Amino acid sequence: MRILDEVNHEIGSLVRAARRVAVLSGAGISAESGVPTFREVQTGLWERFSAEDLATGEAFAHDPALVWTWYRWRQSLLLQVEPNPGHSALAGWQRRLREAGGELSIATQNVDDLHERAGAEVLAHLHGSIFAHRCAECSEPAELAAPEYDGLEPPEQPEQPPACACCGSSLRPGVVWFGEMLPLKAFELTSDAIRQADLVVVVGTSGLVQPAASLPLLALERGTPLIEVNPEETEISEVMDYCLRGPSGTMLPAVAESAR
Ligand code: OAD
Ligand code: ZN
Repeated sequence: MRILDEVNHEIGSLVRAARRVAVLSGAGISAESGVPTFREVQTGLWERFSAEDLATGEAFAHDPALVWTWYRWRQSLLLQVEPNPGHSALAGWQRRLREAGGELSIATQNVDDLHERAGAEVLAHLHGSIFAHRCAECSEPAELAAPEYDGLEPPEQPEQPPACACCGSSLRPGVVWFGEMLPLKAFELTSDAIRQADLVVVVGTSGLVQPAASLPLLALERGTPLIEVNPEETEISEVMDYCLRGPSGTMLPAVAESAR
């Protein structure tokens, strides 16, 4: 494992040679857009809770309004922020590789849509999408208007989740909670993309949440080079060939540019 604070020649050569790239992203890639990561301290209504406390079926069963409002607030926050240069660099790299007959596959643990808004196509949303809702009982999907509050400030009062139009039970966010299965198709598409890649880039994830955190390990089967982009050491830094220790908004443009 080599720890670097900038893109060097070796990374440049790997990136130039790569025809099939697989990227696994996490909350850190959206941090510079102003979206708090999961392991940051919270404010307002949620200051007594960690994000991990709220992202569970048990939390929703215990206090549906608190959990529902947290996700609606994160939705409204997302509607007020923009993709950052890290997202744009991946989108541009994907476009150029496709023009050259290659592929860059993005699998994200993020429930936001910032990769898409930067112009990228996402192969898999491993933890679902925050903009999807469904019935907590009968799973019927439901469309809702954007939340009315200002996402920069947490709302003062929690609101109850609306009722399902089919069965009257509560709606829930279309995300994967701790203890729930990942969508199988998304997991399989990501596994295949990593197995077929000739370069794997892991960006902005703590590597703490399974099974997503194990996906990059599939690259070890064929000895595919692994690059981590993260300002901090993570649970999975050890298996990386290169760790670029810096923010993705700076590092990813440099990585993508080194392909030219
Ligand atoms: P975490 O919040 O666990 O980790 C965020 C990572 O981003 C950390 O390793 C930070 O060092 C890194 N980071 C912070 N700023 C960065 C920057 N500017 N550039 C690059 N990296 C930066 O987020 P995830 O690993 O995505 O799941 O969390 C995984 C899952 O746990 C989430 O999808 C969510 C959560 O609970 C569910 O809700 C099921
Ligand atoms: Zn229902």
